[in-house]
Amino acid sequence: MVKQTGYGVAFAGSGSADISTALSNDDLSQIVETSDEWIATRTGIRQRRIAGAADSLATLSAEAARGAIAMANLAPADIDLILLATSTPDDLFGTACQVQAALGAQRAVAFDLTAACSGFVFALITAAQFIRTGAYRNVVVIGADVLSRWVDWQDRTTCVLFGDGAGAVVMQAAETDRLLGFEMGSDGSLNGCLNLNYQSETQPLVGEVQVQTGTFLPITMNGREVYRFAVNRVPEVLEKSLFHAGLDTADIDWLILHQANQRILDAVAKRLKIPSDRVVSNMAKHGNTSAASIPIALDEWVRSGQIQPGDKIATSGFGAGLTWGAAIFEWG
Ligand code: UT7
Repeated sequence: MVKQTGYGVAFAGSGSADISTALSNDDLSQIVETSDEWIATRTGIRQRRIAGAADSLATLSAEAARGAIAMANLAPADIDLILLATSTPDDLFGTACQVQAALGAQRAVAFDLTAACSGFVFALITAAQFIRTGAYRNVVVIGADVLSRWVDWQDRTTCVLFGDGAGAVVMQAAETDRLLGFEMGSDGSLNGCLNLNYQSETQPLVGEVQVQTGTFLPITMNGREVYRFAVNRVPEVLEKSLFHAGLDTADIDWLILHQANQRILDAVAKRLKIPSDRVVSNMAKHGNTSAASIPIALDEWVRSGQIQPGDKIATSGFGAGLTWGAAIFEWG
């Protein structure tokens, strides 16, 4: 763990976007050969939210950020940095600047960060580095994805899993450092397990010059491999982060994992001996919202009063790359 330089990190507010349209497992069984029973037993998912025509990644992200900024008792003009973790931007050049404009956060620098379902945890850790060095005081970290726009709705092995959403937190410079420990990892040798690939064709341009033009293909996933990876790597990265924090699993009030599969949550909690009433789970309502899943779950538990200031939270994201990471932090 890098020693801090005098500035600590506090967690001052959370927010999430409200997407009204729900797509149930029964609805899906009218599109592909599946059933509520299969999806619920294999994943724990009952429904997922689908962004509407008027929604964009930018509008959902801005809504989540507004909630977090208000909870932190700040104004958009106070924000120094907006970090948007997403793999499904409205614009491949980046969507964070659109969020900055929508918020009216004129002073903030804004950019996207891509690490798939690990994106929010990676962005939270990145934000902490800017705060600890004294570069920025008020940072909005957003995790948002609209995977409904990137799945093949005829592929039952993936379309039943994903949903849309956005969640955000405000992180602030503070005297006491509440980011207690973290660890991140990548293994590109497993890249082919989970992809949203660009497929191109060779086009002759002029003379001997050729260009590769094409488009993105829908998500493909080797579910069994990713499952195996998750149940091995996630407990390991959480244990390392806890070690950096000088804490034990018994000290943890809440475990917030990326909401990919209830069976992964159960397996990780069992291995770490964390009782199920401390494991945050909302995938029944939202499905897998990729970078959004952790901040949405955090916001729901904060707003319902279950997570209280001072509670110690262990969080871990994992997914395409393959990437994984964990952070141990104290709310408030
Ligand atoms: O967010 C990024 C991280 N992603 C993850 O963490 C996902 C990790 N993987 C998983 O959560 C699980 O692997 C899945 C939920 C994706 C799949 O569960 P599984 O228990 O690994 O199922 P499987 O892929 O081994 O498939 C079992 C059977 C297959 O049929 P056969 O070959 O046994 O006849 C599939 O064709 O279930 C079939 N199947 C389905 N049946 C009904 C696959 N998808 C469906 C479906 N409905 N939607």
